[in-house]
Amino acid sequence: MDTIRIGLMGLGTVGSGVVRILENHRDDLLRQTGSHIEIRKILVQSTEKLRDVNVPQHLLTTDPEDIAGAPDIDVVVEVMGGVPQTKLLLEKALRSGKHVVTANKDLMALHGAELLSVAAEQGCDIFYEASVAGGIPIIRALTESFSSDRIMRMLGIVNGTTNFILTKMSLEGASYEEVLKEAQALGYAEADPTSDVEGLDAARKMAILATLGFRMNVALSDVEAKGITGVTKEDILYGQRLGYELKLLGLAERDGDSVSVSVQPAMVRKSHPLASVNGVFNAVYVYGEAVGETMFYGQGAGAMPTATSVVADLVSVVKNMRLNVNGQRLSRPYKEKRLQTDDRIRGKFFLLLHVEDRAGVLAQITQVFAKHDVSLESVLQHPNAANPSAEIIIITHDADQASMKNVIAECENLDVVNQVKSVYRVIG
Ligand code: NAP
Ligand code: HSE
Repeated sequence: MDTIRIGLMGLGTVGSGVVRILENHRDDLLRQTGSHIEIRKILVQSTEKLRDVNVPQHLLTTDPEDIAGAPDIDVVVEVMGGVPQTKLLLEKALRSGKHVVTANKDLMALHGAELLSVAAEQGCDIFYEASVAGGIPIIRALTESFSSDRIMRMLGIVNGTTNFILTKMSLEGASYEEVLKEAQALGYAEADPTSDVEGLDAARKMAILATLGFRMNVALSDVEAKGITGVTKEDILYGQRLGYELKLLGLAERDGDSVSVSVQPAMVRKSHPLASVNGVFNAVYVYGEAVGETMFYGQGAGAMPTATSVVADLVSVVKNMRLNVNGQRLSRPYKEKRLQTDDRIRGKFFLLLHVEDRAGVLAQITQVFAKHDVSLESVLQHPNAANPSAEIIIITHDADQASMKNVIAECENLDVVNQVKSVYRVIG
């Protein structure tokens, strides 16, 4: 076990970072693991492409079989992305006794349970710290540091692209469309930003966090996801006036034995630590029954932060190999999954209504809230010269989501309400 032989799948942003860290920290890694970590093969799409890092040409291959089934590879480090083909390759690698480290959130959110089963059957490790929030060691925290606690709530800013867009909208009063263009020009947002801006990328990460934190198998389809495409400057401005920042939040909450997991833009009170997480930074706020409040903050993407997590996983695999305990530290969910229904999901809500500006309007609206037993914390009317309707902002006390849906549907049917413009959960 003097030398651990790595098959690296992917030499793009993260793969190049992995090569650099293995190079730059060679001595430290040897001292920590007692083994030389040596890359034996690198899978790429094109062997001719110019690379950010220098690697001997003979290491490059376009044939996945040179890694997945090769007898001279001990650990597969998968940083190429993709789901169906990558799943088959990693299953093959595990079945041939190789350990796996992956940064692939799409794959782990969709097929994590199956891959963990194969790994357990084979006595192999599969670690995926980099799949959520890049360089932030949140998976290790949930599976190891909080193993003694009962996690009640996780709130995550787990998508850097959308946090960059919302931060810019908030600081500069710019529109969503303007900032998205800027984010694309800067390379923060992809040419097709759908997965980020529609909340799907964050939903994948929240499915992984909820599965680990609540120790039950939360599937991607269990995560209700809403993105930021409908967020307007007006929403952000009114939020700010009332002391809130609008953030795309992953919310994973437990009530007794049942949980709810969602991704949605939410008004976060400025005094809450998540409100000051700006730009492309990520943060995960974890509330444990015993530990209370904690928060993990850092870079959620980028070559070196993400590669830090990948190589840390690799170090864990090598340490396990030396102790001969691979496959024994897998965190597999053991609780029955129970999802909360809308009548159990409770929170405060922010509503922006465009209404007729005449006597008796507010009375009709507040009657609807009263009918559904939703109590109001504050009601505000702002004159807006640009809008012939009056704009009313309501913040509720804690209410259940089912009642709120009824309130919204009834408000939309009132003659005096021109539009229920926005509805957001309020945090903090
Ligand atoms: P990337 O820059 O696009 O690199 C992908 C690499 O994989 C490239 O080297 C590419 O080869 C190779 N590749 C892709 N498909 C392949 C295929 N079918 N066969 C052979 N080689 C293939 O991607 P990345 O940003 O490094 O992301 C890699 C993974 O890490 C993804 O799962 C991503 O979700 C995850 N991740 C990324 C970040 C981040 O900051 N970028 C953060 C957290 C997690 P060529 O170079 O020849 O094209
Ligand atoms: N698209 C992701 C983000 C990259 O914006 O955070 C890291 O998963």
